[in-house]
Amino acid sequence: MLLHKPFLNVLRMHPMRILVTGGAGFIGMNLCRALLQGGHRVVVLDDFSTGLRSNLEGLDVELIEHDVTLPFDVPCDQIYHLACPASPVFYQKEGVRTMLTAFNGTYQALLNAERHKARILVASTSEVYGDPAVSPQPETYFGNVNTWGPRACYDEGKRAAEALCYEFQTRGRADVRVARIFNTYGPGMRLDDGRVMTEFIAAALSGKPLRLEADGEQTRSFCYVDDVIEGLISLMARNGGIGPLNLGSTEEVRIFDLASMVISMTSSDSTTCTSARRRDDPMCRKPDISLAATELSWIPRISLAVGLERLIRDIKSSVPRRACCPMVVLIAATDRSHLHLSRTIPSLMRQNKGWDAVVVVDDSLHSSDQIKVNFGSAGLNGLHLIANQRSRGAAGAWNSGLEFIRTNIGEAWVAILDDDDEWSAEHLESCHAKITQGADAIIGGIITFVEGRPASVATHDSFSHESFLQHNPGWQGSNTFVRLSSLEKAGCFDEGLACTHDRDLAIRLLSLDDFTHVRTGVVTVKYHVSDNEPAYTRRFNPIKLAGLRTFWLKHRSRMNEEQKAGFFEHAAAMFGFSQQQITQ
Ligand SMILES: NC(=O)c1ccc[n+]([C@@H]2O[C@H](COP(=O)([O-])OP(=O)(O)OC[C@H]3O[C@@H](n4cnc5c(N)ncnc54)[C@H](O)[C@@H]3O)[C@@H](O)[C@H]2O)c1
Repeated sequence: MLLHKPFLNVLRMHPMRILVTGGAGFIGMNLCRALLQGGHRVVVLDDFSTGLRSNLEGLDVELIEHDVTLPFDVPCDQIYHLACPASPVFYQKEGVRTMLTAFNGTYQALLNAERHKARILVASTSEVYGDPAVSPQPETYFGNVNTWGPRACYDEGKRAAEALCYEFQTRGRADVRVARIFNTYGPGMRLDDGRVMTEFIAAALSGKPLRLEADGEQTRSFCYVDDVIEGLISLMARNGGIGPLNLGSTEEVRIFDLASMVISMTSSDSTTCTSARRRDDPMCRKPDISLAATELSWIPRISLAVGLERLIRDIKSSVPRRACCPMVVLIAATDRSHLHLSRTIPSLMRQNKGWDAVVVVDDSLHSSDQIKVNFGSAGLNGLHLIANQRSRGAAGAWNSGLEFIRTNIGEAWVAILDDDDEWSAEHLESCHAKITQGADAIIGGIITFVEGRPASVATHDSFSHESFLQHNPGWQGSNTFVRLSSLEKAGCFDEGLACTHDRDLAIRLLSLDDFTHVRTGVVTVKYHVSDNEPAYTRRFNPIKLAGLRTFWLKHRSRMNEEQKAGFFEHAAAMFGFSQQQITQ
């Protein structure tokens, strides 16, 4: 981070204890770096819902792992309140939580400021202007925001938070600053959160098409993060409250032109492709920054071309890290101790290639102690035994495991092993050998054993999501080796399904615009079907029937007549259920 000299003087004036909520996020970590550079003591409060532990590596901060919507008491001189998911992919995933974070989180931060007489700066957003009818947008513009749509949780949450700030400020309860931050970019952004800048660069570097919505006619003004940090610290340092203040770049660019710049600056062969405009996505975005210029003498210094070059350089150096991110084995363990001992654990012990972590999620009704004993005493490297925090069943257990991996490990290759299946010794090795920068999933060949005898082998060339509408052509849990970020993009496992989770996930992964899967070409997974074992695949299993019903309701609108017939034929032949039983 290169801060310019006059600003460094502002930063260094009085060493303080400063609380940064959301300090493990993109802007937060850059802010922490700057505050530490200024000689301050920094406390980070974060729940790591979108921020990464790795962002804080090497930073001498005090960490409080806490949900900002719940009360906290942190003595401090200043508070930068940033905690809130900021990318549409993340904030739309759990809209209610986003809205509560924006409002209740700000309330708790304001209460802490009031209690400790700390000055507080609240990060608001240009989204309070909605899809603006005025451009550039001055602070006096009231906005054009839809309360009834997928972006409302964020936009309206932030508007309500601003109203709360107004109440605390005008009633003398706290010394409040509000920064309306416009699109910000720079090192520290996650490559998987769907923000256009990183999405374009990651696509260009891996030769994938750059996706343009609304033909790329929207405009945005991207401000480099160092400039935003200087704006935030200058606003905090200014004596006397002013109302909300815009911080952003005035260099407006069409998204189409941004795509061209990225392709040319990365010397990429990528092309562009188009997709529909997301609902309520603003067509233009450009701040009027005269208030910041007058009150703070602040204007951005880093041009888009320079900032983009810096970010590309940063991402380029992190892409090899992306290709070889940790390999994590994920197991949902149920009451099948004899199978753990005879298949799952030996299957891990014989792998030629080591893993970085094994996450076993306990989804048992009765034998959780036994699971701990079995896996715990096996001496598995990097073992984490965790409880299922979500709904009971495989999908909830896998999702718990994925959340654990995201929070504690970060981006990873996730290799799933069902606790009644087996891998041959070269499974992880063969998947690992196929990892490239561009690949999102590696799929091993699978052999099905019926009642202990080999019955069929699947080593497909490539899948399309249509095949999974009728039956599963060979992508099960145990030959899933996929990037965590791809699973998250697809929405992880559907906990509303009683079974057929693999097919449903495959459909959603394969429907992602830029999803690339590669096969290993070798059969390394043994999938067991037996009437004598507790498994969904047994014929006439009522759980299977429930799963087929919800799968049918969920996907029937995507099926043509031939696919519908294929779906019912397969259900009858494989599981013994008629069309009438499934649709009644
Ligand atoms: N990046 C931008 O372009 C931009 C633009 C406008 C406004 N902002 C605002 O700036 C702030 C930071 O944005 P960012 O880009 O760094 O986002 P980010 O998602 O990278 O960081 C947000 C941080 O807040 C944490 N967090 C989220 N919910 C929390 C909760 N309930 N309790 C504790 N911690 C929680 C996350 O784990 C993460 O570390 C946000 O308030 C955002 O609304 C950002």
